[in-house]
Amino acid sequence: MIVLGIETTCDETAAAVVRLRPGGRPEILSNCILSQIEEHAPYGGVVPEIAARAHVVALDGQIAAALKQAGLRLDQVDGIAAAAGPGLIGGVIVGLTAGKTLALAAQKPFIAVNHLEAHALSARMVEDLAFPYLLLLASGGHSQLLAVRSVNDYWRLGGTIDDALGEAFDKTAKMLGLPYPGGPAVEREAEMGNPERFAFPRPMLGRKNADFSLSGLKTAVRIEAEKNAPLRRMDIADLCASFQAAILDVVVDRTRVALSMFRTGVGQPNALVVAGGVAANKSIRRSLERLAHESGLPLVAPPPVLCTDNGAMIAWAGLERLRLGQADRLDAPPRPRWPLSSKRGLQSLPQEGGL
Ligand code: KG4
Ligand code: ZN
Repeated sequence: MIVLGIETTCDETAAAVVRLRPGGRPEILSNCILSQIEEHAPYGGVVPEIAARAHVVALDGQIAAALKQAGLRLDQVDGIAAAAGPGLIGGVIVGLTAGKTLALAAQKPFIAVNHLEAHALSARMVEDLAFPYLLLLASGGHSQLLAVRSVNDYWRLGGTIDDALGEAFDKTAKMLGLPYPGGPAVEREAEMGNPERFAFPRPMLGRKNADFSLSGLKTAVRIEAEKNAPLRRMDIADLCASFQAAILDVVVDRTRVALSMFRTGVGQPNALVVAGGVAANKSIRRSLERLAHESGLPLVAPPPVLCTDNGAMIAWAGLERLRLGQADRLDAPPRPRWPLSSKRGLQSLPQEGGL
């Protein structure tokens, strides 16, 4: 079974072909990703209108390249999957329409993939991982802790009540004059800085639920940056290191609480999984590795190229659905807002004392 996957929800124009081998393990035949970073960099963030136009210009070429690298013609794939949201509406429409059109022309099943679900399932593409597992999904737009029980069955254990983890990195970078996207830039600076110079708050630490709140931390960074202005190179590195140290403490504490909720409400997870762009951060991976180890679980973290947005994870989510006999109609709508929690089969775990 072979699926073509299309991703256009943010600032990567991506197409990929993934094959399910007879034994059930996948093989990524191609994974073409064209980043629009340079087009958005002058504005310090993604400009939706520029993103949508850039997807229109680039998508055909990415799809052609993905098929070519896989050595396949369109009529040789078994299904076409496109991310239908959540994301920037203009970009979503471009990828979704392209996917539907190809499916119609080639008379193939079409799968409208939830971008978050694709991040959530990407761990199963790289490891032979059985459900259920605990997932920390940390990207530019989302920070959630989920019990992944099966395809289409997610329990939300917690999430951010304000900024997403990636957003906190991006905003911190912008305040400190670092380039976009902020995550990799802050991580680089942090490696050279002193994580103890600034005692930044660790919001929500010790709370019984698994929610995040990061806007207070961002404000604390801004106040220290203003106090120390004009910032020297070392100040920026120390601010980044101290910010990242706070993030690590928060991530580990919130994930530990989610793990205990999981064990009480769902059972024993098979792994701790981290996915989404922030999962590319080496310090976050190391901290979660320690937490997983002390909890007796393996940590599954897809390689960075499969953590940030890509077409392979969309193709894989399409394969996961298609092999269960699930496909979508060609009138599947673009869904700029599409929380995983609205998917069929989701139940919310009662929080604080309810378990
Ligand atoms: O999953 P993704 O590629 O796109 C979304 O769906 O949002 O995630 C992008 C986010 C950005 O906020 C970016 O700054 C962050 O992931 N990110 C990182 C790192 N690499 C990317 N954050 C922290 N450390 C990194 N190394
Ligand atoms: Zn993403």
